[in-house]
Amino acid sequence: MNITVIGAGRVGSSVALNCSLRELGDVLLLDIVEGLPQGEAMDINHQLAEQGIDCIARGSNNYEDMRGSDFVIVVAGVGRKPGMTRMDLLKTNADIVKGVCDKIKNYAPDSKIIVVTNPLDPLTYLVLKSLGRKRTQVMGMGGMLDLSRFKEHISTVTGISRDSIQAMVISEHGENMLPLVRFSSLGGIPLTEFISTEQSKDLATKTKGIAAEVISLKGATVYAPGNAVSTMVESIIKNKKAILPVSALLEGEYGYNDVCIGVPCVLGHEGMEKIIELKLDESEKKVFDLGVQSVKNAIQSFSL
Ligand code: LAC
Repeated sequence: MNITVIGAGRVGSSVALNCSLRELGDVLLLDIVEGLPQGEAMDINHQLAEQGIDCIARGSNNYEDMRGSDFVIVVAGVGRKPGMTRMDLLKTNADIVKGVCDKIKNYAPDSKIIVVTNPLDPLTYLVLKSLGRKRTQVMGMGGMLDLSRFKEHISTVTGISRDSIQAMVISEHGENMLPLVRFSSLGGIPLTEFISTEQSKDLATKTKGIAAEVISLKGATVYAPGNAVSTMVESIIKNKKAILPVSALLEGEYGYNDVCIGVPCVLGHEGMEKIIELKLDESEKKVFDLGVQSVKNAIQSFSL
């Protein structure tokens, strides 16, 4: 498999390393900064060589090199600074992503695409519509990252192994994120058996706010996003049909059309193969509706 990562900054390089360590394919890092993708690729190859992994990482400043890519991971764009919301990046990153779409159209017309650039859900929609792709082929990585944090907090609060946790986070990868306590379990036992209502609220608050805390401390989130993307790519490449939170285009599901937002999806050989509709209760639906509205408002600013 050939995987292209557009954006060779800290997140893009983490995506490249994580995909390589899982031996998902050869990875091309692309960036406009001369030398950066080449240097990152060399560094990754040195680690892979010592580990005996024969996937090859390459770096380039020439978009033509992504010809024939099976996957394109869109990481290009600016990250938020402390105090900013992901939505604050909309105008700047929409312009950058539009430029990237022109390159994908030319050089990787048959690729599956995973969008990482924030604000994630509106930009996933922008990529899908700009390229005129089927919804199976364009996915956003946001909920996977929120899930990573939700699982870590659940483990901390309950003292149970991270390996025993099944959980789900849907809605907007942003201010209206929805960690679903009711649909989470520890060793198959509902999470609600382990925590109080108060603790449930605290879990949701912490899951929503932790990215900003990491950014204020180290400037960006890096390892968790890279891992989250590679989990999605792995489920597709290995046709695992894992149920993962993915930003996908709704076509009637959850009562909505023409919007990309985080929902439980089955990821397999075709890409986003199925959206799973959960029976949300009143309070969950309220947050989900706010998330949809927030993304739809952002989408309206695109001249598609
Ligand atoms: C985060 C950014 C990538 O949640 O949205 O870390």
